[in-house]
Amino acid sequence: MLFIVLAAGLGKRMKSNHPKVLHTLVGKPILGWVLSACRSAFDPGQSNRIVVVVHPDMAEVVDYLEWWKEETGIKGVENVFQSERLGSGHAVIMAKETIDRCEKGERVVILSGDVPFVRPQTVQELVQCAKSCDGAVLTMDHPNPQGYGRVFRDPQGFVAHIVEDKDCTSDQRSNQEVNAGIYVFEARALSWALGRLDNENAQREYYLPQTVEIIQKHQGRIAALKVDDAIEVSGVNDRLQLVALDRLMRLRINHYWLAEGVTIVDPENTTIEPEVRIGIDTIIQPYCFIKGKTGIGKDCVIGPFSQIADSWIDDGCVVDRSHLRGVRAAKEVHIGPFARLREGTELSESVRIGDFVELKKTVMGAGSKAQHLSYLGDATIGENVNIGAGTITCNYDGYHKYPTQIGKNAFIGSNTAIVAPVSIGEGAIVGAGSVIVENVEKDALALARGQQVQKPGRAAVIRERNKK
Ligand code: UD1
Ligand code: MG
Repeated sequence: MLFIVLAAGLGKRMKSNHPKVLHTLVGKPILGWVLSACRSAFDPGQSNRIVVVVHPDMAEVVDYLEWWKEETGIKGVENVFQSERLGSGHAVIMAKETIDRCEKGERVVILSGDVPFVRPQTVQELVQCAKSCDGAVLTMDHPNPQGYGRVFRDPQGFVAHIVEDKDCTSDQRSNQEVNAGIYVFEARALSWALGRLDNENAQREYYLPQTVEIIQKHQGRIAALKVDDAIEVSGVNDRLQLVALDRLMRLRINHYWLAEGVTIVDPENTTIEPEVRIGIDTIIQPYCFIKGKTGIGKDCVIGPFSQIADSWIDDGCVVDRSHLRGVRAAKEVHIGPFARLREGTELSESVRIGDFVELKKTVMGAGSKAQHLSYLGDATIGENVNIGAGTITCNYDGYHKYPTQIGKNAFIGSNTAIVAPVSIGEGAIVGAGSVIVENVEKDALALARGQQVQKPGRAAVIRERNKK
């Protein structure tokens, strides 16, 4: 099956320096949603290809397609250029060579790059609908049809023609059945009809919907599949529609997780991206952003204002007001409030990370703690280690990054600077305020700070002098 995604339109009403189809909805570009719908509607028995029609000034879209191909491993994706924006029909003509390479009887699915939330099942139903005809169009009875093409049927219920809003008579305008901009055609019928399009209309454009009328007039038949969920046919043309759709999809995802046994305290103010997975009895408090490929286990509490991206959080963890990216946390780990855990952080069971602690590429063994005000980077820390408040691994000399090793059961006193590369042995104790530049042996006490000096009575002398 061939999928054609129309994405060359200007998107003027977005008032943006970036292509409309790359604006995001719940963290995923509009075009990404459409491509996912194509992918899920692939016919497993056939070779499936996707052609995206873009304008030559849309290099960002071409880069995104390359990224998407790599990410999904789907090879049959290409773009064709439409250098002059002469209408949706003209955009499809740009893919005519590919259409003409289709086998006779093969179906071509056409989707609008700005209609993100059509369900894959709906696309599959539309394909079914088109099986016994020359094509099928997705429609909806819209409470506010303004701006959409209106669908007119013949006495048998097939689509006779589609009239754009701007070309409608006032009588036609009162018809509420609208064209969703999603179509399936038999490849030969489509190719033949594309050759017969004209631009005799209010906008002087080559309209794709005119193909329906052309096929119908030559004894072809185009079926209509009516959906009743407005989100499936909603297009994004401006930022108001973007945020309205974003909210609707966010709520859908959150309601899904509520139904799956996850408590989302405030579904209006929680963002869970589509690829996230969450276990039952986990509680997500308000204002959290859970992004990318994140997995959260059972019985966790994710505190307010947390941001978690591309991380794996095992059962029974607590994350409170913290930012995590690329983190793996085993069972019963507590993080936050106000921690920042970066790429490559791996925390074993029952680790405790407290306030104002930053970790980067750091591994901590079971039961270890860094409860206050620390930076630990490129460090490998054993089990049951206590990292005192204000401990810093000095892992960077302005040119290179160096590693730190801390053995199990070690105790690092507060305000210690550990100048990497260096290792601290198992069970060692480092005195508070030390600057450690040399390796510390197993079970040793290391002190690296000035000797304390005490002058009896001197404070009272200074006080008296200052009073005078
Ligand atoms: C289109 C349909 C309308 C339907 C509505 C549903 C046409 C003429 N009308 O109207 O019947 O109710 O969608 O949302 O198709 N595009 C190009 N190149 C162009 C022009 C458009 O690639 O030269 C692409 C756009 O990027 C977009 C799609 O085609 O993805 C539809 O174009 P748009 O201008 O958004 O048409 P609508 O007015 O929304
Ligand atoms: Mg549109």
